[in-house]
Amino acid sequence: MSDKTLAVIKPDAVKAGFAEEIKQLIELHGFTIIIQQKFQLTRFRAEEFYEEHVGKPFFPNLINFMTSGPVVAMVLSKPNAIADWRKMMGPTNVLKARQEAPYSLRAMYGKDGTQNATHGSDSPTSAMREIKFYFPGLVLEPLLPAD
Ligand code: CMP
Repeated sequence: MSDKTLAVIKPDAVKAGFAEEIKQLIELHGFTIIIQQKFQLTRFRAEEFYEEHVGKPFFPNLINFMTSGPVVAMVLSKPNAIADWRKMMGPTNVLKARQEAPYSLRAMYGKDGTQNATHGSDSPTSAMREIKFYFPGLVLEPLLPAD
């Protein structure tokens, strides 16, 4: 599973018209976009996706932001996809990204700590959960008939 990850282009970047450019960069970096779809998240679904952050001070802002417009969700494939996508995004906080990784996606397309242009799964377990969240019908590991 570490060869696949869930990537999201967030509402700030979609609204600003950066989605196509970001997708081109993703492919230039050697990822295959297996499936992609634009979604408008409801508050209920956004709260479910970010359930690990419930109660944190930034949670209300995060939910307002993630429901403020469409997102583009994608499943990316490539050896080492999870780590490579996180590297391509750069640090979560855009100001930090601009200092430490000026050519990362968050440095180039994000605005601040919350409106940070992109999301990526942080582990094989979260990649599995997050891919199923956006693409429940996608068969990642086909079952083999026993006999
Ligand atoms: P993401 O990688 O999607 O995971 C959780 C999101 O919460 C993160 O990107 C940011 O959009 C937001 N976030 C995380 N930490 C903070 C923070 N300290 N302040 C504000 N927003 C945050």
